[in-house]
Amino acid sequence: MIGVFDSGVGGLSVLRALHQCQSAPPLLYTADSGHAPYGDRNPAHVIERSLKVTQHLINQGADLIVIACNTATAWAIDTLREQHPGLDLVGVEPGVKPGVAMSRNRRVGVMATPSTLASERFASLLARHANDCKITGVGCRGLAAAIEQGEAAHEQVDQLLDLYCAQLRQAEVDTAVLGCTHYPFVAERIARRLGPEVQLLDTADAVARQALHLWAVRHPEPFARPSSSHEKGQVRLQSTGDATVLARLAREQLGLLAPVETIAL
Ligand code: DGL
Repeated sequence: MIGVFDSGVGGLSVLRALHQCQSAPPLLYTADSGHAPYGDRNPAHVIERSLKVTQHLINQGADLIVIACNTATAWAIDTLREQHPGLDLVGVEPGVKPGVAMSRNRRVGVMATPSTLASERFASLLARHANDCKITGVGCRGLAAAIEQGEAAHEQVDQLLDLYCAQLRQAEVDTAVLGCTHYPFVAERIARRLGPEVQLLDTADAVARQALHLWAVRHPEPFARPSSSHEKGQVRLQSTGDATVLARLAREQLGLLAPVETIAL
């Protein structure tokens, strides 16, 4: 089984990419909504929670784990690798490299949590891949937390997007990297603010491909996927907090009707 986690609903954008693939094995998604957001908190919190959730997924039978969270990848993946040397781990990082490759005017924006932007891993991404591009990082404080609240925070999301997209427009970027897995769920609203000449980039598909490749290497026997679309839902969803938005997005974005299990971790 592949275990997938995020601070909340954002990782569903990665789960969706995994779930769309016919060869995907059973998937278990844990949203740590009871301890979200990660991106506005200190790194110690992110590391502690990532260790807890990873151990939980292992206990549930996951033998490959996708950290579907840029913030957790930035701060916790090294510790997770140290603590679980035999475990296959796939992380998510802002798509600086493909963004730089796509940009025509050599100006790329990165929308991410303040915590991701402050990390050494992000600095190293820039050092390796920014090349001749001017990169404008916009720390979108509060945005993931507002998306986490769903419709209840619709206006707040609009206000935050006005603020953050204005910074990208001012920087005249032609490419905007969505460096937080929550942001694809408001991609249309971002696109509307940035205009048609700005291309948006998220890495969910690439991460899903990488995870499934790694899975196939470790499990050469193809997983016999049930054929009926009803059974296709070999997906379990769990949340450590309020599961309302998770259940709604899972239904709307993945077609999953299964109830969300509430767990304490
Ligand atoms: N979805 C997470 C990410 O990709 C972070 C959201 C949060 O701040 O909790 O960075």
